[in-house]
Amino acid sequence: MNIKSGHKVLIYGASGGVGSFAVQIAKAFGAEVTGVCSTRNVEILRSIGADHIIDYTKESLTHHQEYYDLVLGVNGSNSLSTYKRILKINGNFVHVGGSESQLYQTLFLGPFISMTGSKKISSLLQKANQKDLNDLKELLETSKVKPIIDKRFKLGEITEAFEYFQEGHAQGKVVITI
Ligand SMILES: NC(=O)c1ccc[n+]([C@@H]2O[C@H](COP(=O)([O-])OP(=O)(O)OC[C@H]3O[C@@H](n4cnc5c(N)ncnc54)[C@H](OP(=O)(O)O)[C@@H]3O)[C@@H](O)[C@H]2O)c1
Repeated sequence: MNIKSGHKVLIYGASGGVGSFAVQIAKAFGAEVTGVCSTRNVEILRSIGADHIIDYTKESLTHHQEYYDLVLGVNGSNSLSTYKRILKINGNFVHVGGSESQLYQTLFLGPFISMTGSKKISSLLQKANQKDLNDLKELLETSKVKPIIDKRFKLGEITEAFEYFQEGHAQGKVVITI
């Protein structure tokens, strides 16, 4: 889906390595962005320009009454029906990561839902390509996107770096300095 200015985008799991980029890229395309994170990450989301922030420790999506053109499931374990409910007509849900059940529901039920209704459900398997990397380079050079870096590890500390990353609570990116 091409994000257009004014589109409403929700990013669930917005404070990690993927989410912190996704928020800023969606903002750079002119979207109105809602980020979902825990209490300790609210300030980070504010600093990268999220228009609205939902603290998942205080509010679940189950009774959420806003509707979105695009929902990115980056982390967490919401059901597909929860995500589908908050999509606008012709809205898209894209699974990026998170729980296994979220992945399997998307893979097995997504194609059926997408064929039979106006809402589209898909899973992202990102392959880097030159155009996207050039677009990202420009966003970085113009400071429209600023990497949020949690911790830096030396190459010799790569095991510790992966152990830290696998805890699943990084605030932005974990960097290995070569
Ligand atoms: N499809 C693809 O091509 C692709 C590419 C890259 C990554 N991925 C997948 O995308 C997912 C995210 O990657 P990542 O690098 O962003 O991971 P990450 O940096 O490890 O994500 C950590 C962040 O997620 C937040 N988080 C943890 N549990 C959460 C929950 N239940 N609800 C909302 N936020 C939660 C954490 O904050 P709190 O602990 O404070 O909540 C933390 O800020 C992973 O599952 C990864 O495998 C997919």
